[in-house]
Amino acid sequence: MSLSFKRIHPDFGAEVSAIDLNQTYDEQTLQELRDAMAQYSVLVFRDQHFSAQEQLDFAKRMDGELHAKTSSSVLAKNRYGNEALTDISNVGQDGDILGAEDRRRMNGISNRIWHTDASFEDPAGRYSMLYARNIPPVRADTEFADMRAAYDALDDETKRTIEGLHVNHSIVYSRHTMGFDFSPEESERLPGATHPLVKICQDSPRKSLYLASHASRIIEWPIPEGRLLLKDLIEHATQRKFVFSHEWRLNDLVIWDNRTTMHRARPFDDKKYKRELTRVTTLDLPREKQARVA
Ligand code: OGA
Ligand code: MN
Repeated sequence: MSLSFKRIHPDFGAEVSAIDLNQTYDEQTLQELRDAMAQYSVLVFRDQHFSAQEQLDFAKRMDGELHAKTSSSVLAKNRYGNEALTDISNVGQDGDILGAEDRRRMNGISNRIWHTDASFEDPAGRYSMLYARNIPPVRADTEFADMRAAYDALDDETKRTIEGLHVNHSIVYSRHTMGFDFSPEESERLPGATHPLVKICQDSPRKSLYLASHASRIIEWPIPEGRLLLKDLIEHATQRKFVFSHEWRLNDLVIWDNRTTMHRARPFDDKKYKRELTRVTTLDLPREKQARVA
């Protein structure tokens, strides 16, 4: 199958020509999509049709093993019965909009700060695949920032300073900065992880800044100094020139590479309108070790 890719930003991101991913099984096309991910970091697919199980199955075909230790899974039972299918919505088990003070809402709206998915795990998240099942009648975009372009634009002295540094990522930390605290028992299930600040991922030789709201400190530096560096880098990396905004349509599937981008949800009136998406995130395991399920 021959695919075409329409750029949506000068540096990264593309909208892919018509394809039914739920019916895509041939390895050649899947490899073409992985190669496109290495190049573009974010791919937008229109008019997809997945049940919950079909979305999980596609993610396994596309990339392999799935991340299931999500923050929402420590708070409530998953509405779809599988912790690997993250419920990115503002509704509860009964399908009603969550109350303003509901802990699930308080946790979920922290997606509105710049982050990458599952950086607090080891192995961390690789691809995230977010599917729009119900879209509000108002804009509720997701923004993406290009962490390879952001790295390239650093001055040489900064590049030298940050080479070899490691970052601790903790969702307990990032939620705390937002005024949301996990209980001690919940926190135990989310211990955090350490990753290099400058990342070269297996699929592309370009370096990337691996940042997130979850980045709590630089291992090699005193905590306040490290946090200042992280804040500076995030400010640099999220300048408008590195960002594009995805305006959702019903049945869009957007796939992004968490190693080379950050993202955030933009606010909308979530006490009035429902917004329901489901996300599957794969783990950044070496590809040769990974069992893809065809
Ligand atoms: C996510 C996420 C943003 C959004 O699914 O990981 O951050 O706009 N979503 O819902
Ligand atoms: Mn996210």
